[in-house]
Amino acid sequence: MCGIIGYIGHEPTAEIVDILLDGLQRLEYRGYDSAGIAIMTEQGLEIQREVGKLSNLVRKTANLDISSRAGLGHTRWATHGRPTEYNAHPHTDGQRQIVVVHNGIIENYLDLKQELKAEGHSFVSETDTEIIAHLIEYYYQGDLKAAVQQTLKRLEGAYSIVVMHAKEPNYLVAAKTSSPLLLGQGQGANFIASDIPAILRHTRDIIYLEDGEMAVVTPDKLEIFRIDGTPVERPIQHIDWNLVAAEKMGFDHFMLKEIHEQPTAFAQTLAGRLSENSQRIFLDELNLSDEKLQSIQRIVIVACGTAYYSGMVGRYLIEQLARVPVEVELASEFRYRDPILDEKTLVIAISQSGETADTLTAIKLAKQQGSPTLGIINVKGSAITRVTDGTLYIHAGPEIAVASTKAFMAMLAAVYLLALHLGQVRGHVDQSALSDHARELRRLPRLMEETLSKVEGRVQEVATRLLRYHHSLYLARGINFPIALEGALKLKEISYIHAEGYAAGELKHGPIALIDPLMPVIAVMTESAAYEKVFSNLQEVRAREGLVFAVATEGDERVNEVADEVIHVPAVPELFSPVINVLPLQLLAYYVALRRGYDVDQPRNLAKSVTVE
Ligand code: AGP
Repeated sequence: MCGIIGYIGHEPTAEIVDILLDGLQRLEYRGYDSAGIAIMTEQGLEIQREVGKLSNLVRKTANLDISSRAGLGHTRWATHGRPTEYNAHPHTDGQRQIVVVHNGIIENYLDLKQELKAEGHSFVSETDTEIIAHLIEYYYQGDLKAAVQQTLKRLEGAYSIVVMHAKEPNYLVAAKTSSPLLLGQGQGANFIASDIPAILRHTRDIIYLEDGEMAVVTPDKLEIFRIDGTPVERPIQHIDWNLVAAEKMGFDHFMLKEIHEQPTAFAQTLAGRLSENSQRIFLDELNLSDEKLQSIQRIVIVACGTAYYSGMVGRYLIEQLARVPVEVELASEFRYRDPILDEKTLVIAISQSGETADTLTAIKLAKQQGSPTLGIINVKGSAITRVTDGTLYIHAGPEIAVASTKAFMAMLAAVYLLALHLGQVRGHVDQSALSDHARELRRLPRLMEETLSKVEGRVQEVATRLLRYHHSLYLARGINFPIALEGALKLKEISYIHAEGYAAGELKHGPIALIDPLMPVIAVMTESAAYEKVFSNLQEVRAREGLVFAVATEGDERVNEVADEVIHVPAVPELFSPVINVLPLQLLAYYVALRRGYDVDQPRNLAKSVTVE
């Protein structure tokens, strides 16, 4: 999950350092334990690298006064080799003529390293990337593209690379297998990048490379080939995200901005898919006919992390509204389990990035086994969308914070639509039921706005109490059980407090042994069929001197009998309550992490998109 940017222009530009660093800044969410740039100059390659956040590299290069036509940049999430300057990319060959940036893992790098050492090569880093530069040097006979082709045939594993040669300053070479890489067509210059935000300032016209492809990029041409040299034609995609959407817009952090963008993300995902009179749902992009949907006997949802929890909410919705059995599977487990699939099983991949390695492999497995496949994805044209039969895009816009919030919300909007559509097609949701549900969906964005403004101050008070603990237990039942899991994930991934989500009904089967004054319980107990059950669970917690923070429905005063702190949210029908109940939990994690002084947008050890296994 590293960030890569490459630039090549007709004329030398004094902006080259800024172009590379600005691009890396917009990719820093992909990995941020070291960074570096390489610039082509008349005297050879100028390489600057620094450990730690990108801001360290920016400081180090502040006085770098260079005009150049070409350069590469990289921000790293360490896989092989500790986060140090000498392990930072770019890496070069022994002659310091060839420079490489790389995202992914070369699984056979040790064998190749031994082979190259036997040929007299010596290495200065612990990385797998450095052997790529030396292997290209080994094969180089005056043609960089050919040397890269030879090298790619020797590499095993996941990679996207960009290569530059001091003696061939007129083009860059890119190659991609499983880690995302795209080409950008600019005015008088062209780009290579791991993700759209890096080059959005320069162009919105992009081409994604597919697995097993490489490209030769000159200032006015983007040539794509299979590794065997077969030319590939691929149309330019125009990205309609605007640059402002990828900025903080006055918020202290992307995460807070994105929490507040959730009403819009939800509404934009609904837009155009619900008829004005709420009589019909338009989901032609599923690319699955009504007959096909009627023939489905089972649904499997594969996803990771937050996306997985949105799938768990989807299971409650689809089973309730469409009466189709649904299994929700962790993609990393599903792909190795030799699952039983057939043409009657619809497999759905949910993913914000559309590049998560485990989810991508899981959906490829489903396709190979003949199952119809669907993606619920945020990033247009991403890898998973190029595998599935259809894609139900969520219109959350660019999600920059590592902790996913608005994409999760947009995923919920998508699964509500899908459940209603399936229910209608399979005869379980009639016109009046559809209108009722559609009306509820339409009012949720405003209710979310109201909730966010009502609870934010209260959440900050609760956060001040919660931040001093090192453990916490999130409890809920029914359709809000996934919200307890999601709330726990948010807290642990940005505040580093150990947080576990649990079905409240499981408390007596073990977790209650954890309850004491040092184990606060965060309970979702808004109006629901299981309210009394959760109430009695919390009585058991209080009987053991447990501390309880509860999310409850406005007007519920009884909850004060079992809670030390209460965050009240507006009343909504239980089926739609996850959309509202997750909001205070997201804010709680944000304010706890903020008060603990951690980097909310770029939490330690994490990266936005897990494109390696
Ligand atoms: C969510 O806050 C985490 N950053 C992580 O669990 C994320 O949801 C997971 O890696 C899946 O990513 P995806 O949606 O891009 O596939």
